[in-house]
Amino acid sequence: MNAQLLTAYEITAGYGAMDILHGVSLSVHPGEIVSIIGPNGAGKSTAFKAMIGVLKPRNGRVVFNGEEITGLRPDLVLRRGLAYVPQGRIVFPLMTVLENLEMGAYTVTDAREVAAALERVYALFPILAERRKQKAGTMSGGEQQMVAIGRALMTKPRLILLDEPSLGLSPKFVTLIFDKLIEMKRAGFTLMIVEQNAARALAIADRGYVLELGRNRLEGAGTALLADPEVKRLYLGG
Ligand SMILES: Nc1ncnc2c1ncn2[C@@H]1O[C@H](COP(=O)(O)OP(=O)(O)OP(=O)(O)O)[C@@H](O)[C@H]1O
Ligand SMILES: [Mg+2]
Repeated sequence: MNAQLLTAYEITAGYGAMDILHGVSLSVHPGEIVSIIGPNGAGKSTAFKAMIGVLKPRNGRVVFNGEEITGLRPDLVLRRGLAYVPQGRIVFPLMTVLENLEMGAYTVTDAREVAAALERVYALFPILAERRKQKAGTMSGGEQQMVAIGRALMTKPRLILLDEPSLGLSPKFVTLIFDKLIEMKRAGFTLMIVEQNAARALAIADRGYVLELGRNRLEGAGTALLADPEVKRLYLGG
């Protein structure tokens, strides 16, 4: 197996005085899709925030690309090549699609690099090229999610953390977003995904984790977790 691209070792983190994560460990190897599932409130989003520096872990370490990034500011984490698409497909509604994408490249100073990044995003999401002049706030939920993902791709990140990319989308867009995640993997991106759609998230995953109450509960190959009786009962409605 390759060296790990990102490792979170026994992270303890929370809000105010309250710990939400109690020693969570997660890792991703280059080229993998890793999916994280678990009930509402398990701490999945909190784990992402602790890895990208929005929350400072009280304990534990985050190592990215061989360097410790524990508690490093989010903008510096992004410059190291770790991008984050937050839960809730947040776009700048009054800005155009193109302006939203350009915002994603604020750390990139070379105009040719920005142009090349735009071309990559448009190749993955042709609809964004067609709608480049449209205000992002007037697009459908699925289209806004593509804008949010496209914005994260503008820095050519080594790893992208996607928090609930399919949440609240119509079935057509859910299928489209999962297809795009597979396309991103084929294009060489490494992905870590938090998803309530456990069946689909595990189906596309090389590996997966189940978090419960701020702790690691289960982990394994995506196919193994899909076949796990407990995962089936609790998360796959079987
Ligand atoms: N900003 C915050 N301040 C205080 N508590 C918070 C904050 N954000 C989340 N929490 C609490 O932390 C716990 C874990 O929340 P988190 O958002 O990480 O869960 P999650 O697994 O992502 O859940 P969901 O599936 O609902 O997105 C919850 O009890 C939540 O109420
Ligand atoms: Mg969440």
